[in-house]
Amino acid sequence: MSANIVIGTQWGDEGKGKIIDLLASRADVVVRAQGGNNAGHTVASGGETYKLHLVPSGILYKDTLCLIGAGVVLDPKDLLGEFDDLSKRGISFDNLKIDPRAHITMPWHIALDGLSEKFRGNKDIGTTHRGIGPAYMDKYERSGIRFYDLVHPDIFREKAMSTGRLKNEIITKVYGGEAIDLEAVIEEYIGYGQRLKSHMADVSVLTYEADKAGKTILFEGAQATLLDIDFGTYPYVTSSHPLSAGVCIGSGVGPMMIKGVYGVAKAYTTRVGKGPFPTELFDATGDYIRDKGHEFGTITGRPRRTGWFDSVIVRHAVRVNGLSALCINKLDTLAGLDTLKVCVAYKRPDGSVIRDFPPTLEGLEGCEPVYEEFPGFSDDLSGCRRFEDLPEVCRSYIARLEELCECPVKMVGVGPSREQIIER
Ligand code: IMP
Repeated sequence: MSANIVIGTQWGDEGKGKIIDLLASRADVVVRAQGGNNAGHTVASGGETYKLHLVPSGILYKDTLCLIGAGVVLDPKDLLGEFDDLSKRGISFDNLKIDPRAHITMPWHIALDGLSEKFRGNKDIGTTHRGIGPAYMDKYERSGIRFYDLVHPDIFREKAMSTGRLKNEIITKVYGGEAIDLEAVIEEYIGYGQRLKSHMADVSVLTYEADKAGKTILFEGAQATLLDIDFGTYPYVTSSHPLSAGVCIGSGVGPMMIKGVYGVAKAYTTRVGKGPFPTELFDATGDYIRDKGHEFGTITGRPRRTGWFDSVIVRHAVRVNGLSALCINKLDTLAGLDTLKVCVAYKRPDGSVIRDFPPTLEGLEGCEPVYEEFPGFSDDLSGCRRFEDLPEVCRSYIARLEELCECPVKMVGVGPSREQIIER
């Protein structure tokens, strides 16, 4: 019996997909608990590359039960697109279940995401334009449409028509946008509901029963700690809780079920979208990391901002998630650099030095990273399979990260495939 969580410790895109895929291969049940199709997990397996948004990674294993919990905002059109794409590659969805409580992302959420971003001008958040924020707004306003509603045409029609009318008022009269054809959308989405209805099941019950039966459960994180609505760099965050605690709320299980929390970080830092990034590089080293690490967004294709490893933020992630282990990915990307730097603290404009990540943007303003330097390495790490195979400089780099972040590093990634994860 074991239930583990995999969480992102930075601003997302840490390579969670690869770690999740490895752990999913040992799991009976894989659960996605929050976020939506703003997530993009790239999984390389059996010579194929899969880009998953909403479908839990366990789908690649035919006997694994895959669950989408109540905390997810679900875009049925996108989900069915993923179904079609994966079906062509011989993958079945019979084992995928969706909680009736999960909220539905509707076309007006997507429209309002774009319109509100435009309205913010240069203060935009840089969202993925997937309607995530507006869908969660409706959920918390208690006017959302849930998966249960979607699969019941009469209920759906009534709710979608009344909400849609109001949204059209906002779209046209507040933002000057184009009204959505509600009749057409309702018909289209009723069709999606009918295609998905056989997948409806109570995820909280299924997870609880699986745990009681001694099954291995994996909760796969999406987004990351610094994108959390409360503990991230608000307002440059997503609208959900990508923390370990969010997994319990989003799937309907208690914290005592969880046996381990894995935090995934890259050996450097990246961020897409706007918002603070203390160790960001604007020089040739940043470009080198971006090119070598293929740092371009899975969802939007945007070039990712790049910078040095920041132990202040990863230590923050260790604390807010109660991490039991760290996985450091993409160490191989740093090969070829003369010197490596790690941020160990921030120096404030008044000269004081802090090690705890400030709770507000104002507290972060003017903070300069304090760096420790390490010798670089030029070895090709892609063939290393044991920790002892890594060059001494890499081993001491990892040992220092463990000290600074106050968490053991249990896995090190040296390449894109599942086999290129060194387990300790
Ligand atoms: P939203 O989640 O689309 O509202 O976007 C809010 C912020 O979170 C933007 O900066 C996005 O780029 C970022 N974001 C959302 N999901 C992910 C993810 O899975 N990986 C990385 N960044 C993400």
